[in-house]
Amino acid sequence: MSVPLPAGRRPPRSLYLHIPFCHRRCFYCDFPVVPLGDQADGSRSQSIADYLHWLLRDLAAAPAGPPLSTVYIGGGTPSMLSPDQLAQLLAAVRSHWGLAPGAELTLEMDPASFDRQRLEAVLALGINRVSLGGQSFDNGVLEQLGRRHRANQLREACSWLRQAQQQALLQSWSLDLIVNLPQQSFEAWDWELSQALAQAPPHLSIYDLIVEPGTVFAWRQGRGELPLPDDDQAADRLQHTHQRLQAAGYGHYEVSSWALPGQASRHNRVYWSGASWWALGLGATSGVGTERLARPRTRDAYSEWVQAHAGRQGDGPAAGWPPVEDLLLVGLRRREGVDLAWLQQTGLWGLERAWLERVLAGWIERGVVELSAQRLRLVAPEGFSLSNAVLSDLLAALERTEPLAPTGARLG
Ligand SMILES: C[S@@+](CC[C@H](N)C(=O)[O-])C[C@H]1O[C@@H](n2cnc3c(N)ncnc32)[C@H](O)[C@@H]1O
Ligand code: SF4
Repeated sequence: MSVPLPAGRRPPRSLYLHIPFCHRRCFYCDFPVVPLGDQADGSRSQSIADYLHWLLRDLAAAPAGPPLSTVYIGGGTPSMLSPDQLAQLLAAVRSHWGLAPGAELTLEMDPASFDRQRLEAVLALGINRVSLGGQSFDNGVLEQLGRRHRANQLREACSWLRQAQQQALLQSWSLDLIVNLPQQSFEAWDWELSQALAQAPPHLSIYDLIVEPGTVFAWRQGRGELPLPDDDQAADRLQHTHQRLQAAGYGHYEVSSWALPGQASRHNRVYWSGASWWALGLGATSGVGTERLARPRTRDAYSEWVQAHAGRQGDGPAAGWPPVEDLLLVGLRRREGVDLAWLQQTGLWGLERAWLERVLAGWIERGVVELSAQRLRLVAPEGFSLSNAVLSDLLAALERTEPLAPTGARLG
């Protein structure tokens, strides 16, 4: 069923492009990626050329809309594309939607997939924000994660990005790290934080390890060979991270995201605010209006899908959580939480504030959740470090409560 955009909602001004290629699949990762081997490079790979053909067809058939304010090229390892291939993609985006003045253009980069020259070529195309998949500064840990890069490459990549920002060639950059890894002690994590702070990234994304089914990590866990920190230790590290980064001037604006003033990711805030976005490419999920549409996760299925369905961005089968759960889950990841009046306006929320008060009473009493007349939010740092537990309580309660929407407009 198609649900109209609630009054005041705008058509998408953000675009996600998925580039599903990596050199290797890291041992913890279940993203829709195709490993091409350590030597692969965009300009020499037929697989990448074939994929770009389908991605450009997907893009050409997408609905028209206003100029974009944010574009995020993610993956996978999009820095495996040659500058010419990236230029072709960006030219297609510019001619299809156009770019608003000051648009944020982010590229995910993996430290072992570029050098300084490649970085400069990419920035010359208009990319103005880079997200760097660092994960760890310890070679033993990088090996344990199945990463291709080593710590010296990571430090070098950080220094190129820092210099590019100082020279105003780059507006901002972000460093990804993973916390609560197997055998990682509190001291080892604190050392990782010191290493990261020494690189002075304007933005840090720190992900709590998730052991995803089907990964090497899940297999090791099944054999009892993945000694992870327990829940208390994991929560301690997240709280310590909050305190250290806050003392260093970073704002904790989302569960996994910290930024120096003015350096928060504009693109990610679109997902968390409930605004719409286009998404193109294998495995990518668009969110137009209140609907989600996931594209297939394999190359063959994706090329068939493009031939049959190109142009669809919304009004397809809803993927993942139905929207009201989605809006709560993503909204609660932000420091400001969810605006309850806005949730009512979407027409998908038929529950009372008193219901939230009852369901979350224990968390509210502990000071982990704050519920005011206008807002529901997690209180950092404890709320953010316990976000999974709070959200699963909320989801379980929603599961037991039917119907959600007074209008019967619930999707599923
Ligand atoms: C889609 S990846 C793209 C980054 C790029 N491919 C790289 O790894 O260099 C974005 C980030 O998600 C995080 N990530 C991926 N799988 C994860 C997992 N199972 N648990 C926690 N973090 C994960 C990693 O920090 C990674 O940098
Ligand atoms: S973490 Fe990044 S580099 Fe590793 S497999 Fe996933 S997407 Fe590829």
